[in-house]
Amino acid sequence: MEILKTKAEMRAWATQKKREGRTISFVPTMGFLHQGHISLLEQGKPLCDELVLSIFVNPTQFGPNEDLDAYPKNIEMDLKLAKAAGTTAVFLPHADEMYGKNYQTRVALDHLPNYLCGKSRPGHFGGVATVVTKLFNIVMPDVAVFGKKDYQQLQIIQQLVQDLDFDIEIIPGEIVREKDGLAMSSRNAYMTPAQRDVALCLSKSIALAKERIADGEKDAHDIVKAMADYIHGFEHTRVDYIEFCDPKTLAPMAVIDRQTVVAMAVHVGKSRLLDNALIDPPA
Ligand code: PAJ
Repeated sequence: MEILKTKAEMRAWATQKKREGRTISFVPTMGFLHQGHISLLEQGKPLCDELVLSIFVNPTQFGPNEDLDAYPKNIEMDLKLAKAAGTTAVFLPHADEMYGKNYQTRVALDHLPNYLCGKSRPGHFGGVATVVTKLFNIVMPDVAVFGKKDYQQLQIIQQLVQDLDFDIEIIPGEIVREKDGLAMSSRNAYMTPAQRDVALCLSKSIALAKERIADGEKDAHDIVKAMADYIHGFEHTRVDYIEFCDPKTLAPMAVIDRQTVVAMAVHVGKSRLLDNALIDPPA
């Protein structure tokens, strides 16, 4: 497994592989790998000849009061896990390497960032779209795998690839959960054991929504209220948003009369946790 720290090294490696006729799968991450990340590597592995992982905590997708400096890190462990998953190259750039002193270009989308997380994290998806564009240009993958855990991010990347004519196939990866249902996240590390127990209320509230929809309930507002009440019944929780939305456009849905995505962000202690699920109403 090669470890490449500069853009020039990464590009030279990818160019050489292409010259040899080899294809490249790519999994971009911010590191502190868990089974969710590993599942994306495992999904990408059989699709191409090479498997590239990037680890880069991208400063431009963090707001001024967010956890950029506190973002958990364990490069040694990440490299071990990456190697075990069959990664052939790791791109591990420094922040100064990715953004030069005179950096001034941003990739922006018109609509998708106006919903869900985009409302409480202005600028976040611009930062994501920009860094992913840069990573695609540096790594030159044929296939890239993104998790459904960040559902809005996945939709944004799919739109970006279509709009900017990247010849890259985007593969969605299922959400990997702990045994009890908590969606895995690098940010789960911020929680105390008590908060970790409370955090289960996200996936439990989704189960509650699924039950009510299966029972024929269609009013999104009523279901959201029931979910928020359930979550606020636990200590140290604060709902940022819970929304039913169109799976493609992410526009809010008031009536659940077709397939929908329920998406949420909830603060538990110092962690802001995400969860979502695709739900079909009863036939
Ligand atoms: P990060 O949060 O490290 O996530 C990297 C990838 O892992 C994303 O595609 C994310 O959706 C996926 N992922 C995280 N938790 C998962 C889980 N429990 N199950 C399945 N997949 C999961 O997302 C980012 O980094 C950054 O925004 C990035 C795309 C790298 C751009 O900086």
